[in-house]
Amino acid sequence: MPNDLETRLTGAVIARLSDDADPRFRRIMTSLIRHVHGFVREVELTEEEWFEAIKFLTATGQKCNDKRQEFILLSDVLGVSMLVDAVNHRGSGATTETTVLGPFFVHGAPEIANGDDMAAGWKGEPTYVSGRVLSTEGTPLAGALLELWQSNSEGYYDVQLTEGKRLRAKLRTDAEGRFRFRTILPTSYPVPTDGPVGLVLDRMGRHPMRPAHLHFMVSAPGYETVVTHLFVKGDPYLESDVVFGVKDSLIVDFKRSESESEAQKLGLKAPFYSASYEFVLRPAARAAQHAARAASDAV
Ligand code: BEZ
Ligand code: FE
Repeated sequence: MPNDLETRLTGAVIARLSDDADPRFRRIMTSLIRHVHGFVREVELTEEEWFEAIKFLTATGQKCNDKRQEFILLSDVLGVSMLVDAVNHRGSGATTETTVLGPFFVHGAPEIANGDDMAAGWKGEPTYVSGRVLSTEGTPLAGALLELWQSNSEGYYDVQLTEGKRLRAKLRTDAEGRFRFRTILPTSYPVPTDGPVGLVLDRMGRHPMRPAHLHFMVSAPGYETVVTHLFVKGDPYLESDVVFGVKDSLIVDFKRSESESEAQKLGLKAPFYSASYEFVLRPAARAAQHAARAASDAV
């Protein structure tokens, strides 16, 4: 039988929220209190389990530094990051679908020119990626910025290594909205498992793998920025991405070619892989209107 405190406590905590608190903050805190209390009641959390949870969250915070964000990783593996993504990109229609940012984006990548090799000095399978950036009206966007980052052929991001070599770049579309760059084929890789999130994945009986992908952040003045990946078709982890980030429209055929003459034309060695993709951005004003409509619908 629930005791009196058990039934009254949730209301009592919510009632302490000041009427002067920011309305959005009040809404978020009210719902958070309800859900956390509901969770405790539903699973009848023991004191030992509660203390384990506190230890886990403490360890998660202690694992974070300027190169490692264990809380983002926790949000990713629990599907929270993709849920936030879904809620914030409802009805995006013709625009390129979005997916997780992940913990390995850093500012300050070197700018390269169209056709350059962003993986110069890295071992791996030569790969050519090209495409266009368009508006939802089909207009090519000249000067759009593509920020690119990826893992190396052993599944590590440059920021996870100590060598200081970069495997990331910034690139701008040409006058026709086209882009092209050389790189190495990305491989599937495990998210970092040497911290508290790795232990939880293991206890849940889950693998830590992400299917091979290239990261893109595509922006242009007056348009909504798209944070996304291109996934390599045929990867064995597409159906079971540890962070639930795969969307069908982002799976791309990286075609293998043995042609030495084709490779030479692109500045590569055979065999090589090539892929192409058209990114579609929607005007920022429309994005703002859509968000306002979604917010008013929710009231
Ligand atoms: C990534 O794709 O870089 C990534 C995303 C989520 C968690 C870990 C890594
Ligand atoms: Fe990644």
